[in-house]
Amino acid sequence: MPEAIAEVAIRVTVNGKPHSLQVEPRVLLVEMLREQLDLTGTHVGCDTTYCGACTVLLNGAAVKSCTMFAVQADGAEILTVEGLEKDGQLHPIQRAFGDAYGLQCGYCTPGIMLSTLQLLSKNLQPSETDMRKAIAGNTCRCTGYQNIFKAMQMAAQSIKGA
Ligand code: FES
Ligand code: FES
Repeated sequence: MPEAIAEVAIRVTVNGKPHSLQVEPRVLLVEMLREQLDLTGTHVGCDTTYCGACTVLLNGAAVKSCTMFAVQADGAEILTVEGLEKDGQLHPIQRAFGDAYGLQCGYCTPGIMLSTLQLLSKNLQPSETDMRKAIAGNTCRCTGYQNIFKAMQMAAQSIKGA
C-alpha cells in the first residue's frame, strides 16, 4: 500500500481573509483555491501554463495558479475573481467587461480581469501594446479580443474618474 503523503501547514490570505490550511506538497494552488476554499471562479482550462484561465494575483502579481504549488504561496496575499466585488458592488473592471461585452462564454474572463487589474494598478492610460502585453498569457477562444480591449480602456477611464 502506498504511504500517505504528509500534509504541510500553510497560511494564506485570500480576498482579505486569513486561512490556515493543511495541504499535500503536490497540491496546486488552483486546486487549493477551488477544492479547499470553494473559490471556483478561478478556472482550469489547460493545466499546462498555456491558457491563463487560472490567473490570480499573488502579492499583486498575476500568476497562473495551475503552475504553482499551494505550499509556494505560504504567507502570500491572494486575490481571486471573487475578491473583486466589494460590499455588493461590482469592481469597475467587472462592470466594464459587462458594459463593453468583453466576454462571451466567460471561461477566460476571471483570469483576464485579474491581469487587467495588475495592469491598471500601475497604468491607467494603457496603450494597445500595454494591453496586449498585459493579457499575453490569457487566451480567449470566443471574443476576438476587440471588446476585451474596449473593456480594459473603459475600466481605466472609470477608475481614473472615481
Ligand atoms: S489552467 Fe492554468 S494556464 Fe491554463
Ligand atoms: S469569452 Fe469564451 S474563452 Fe473568452
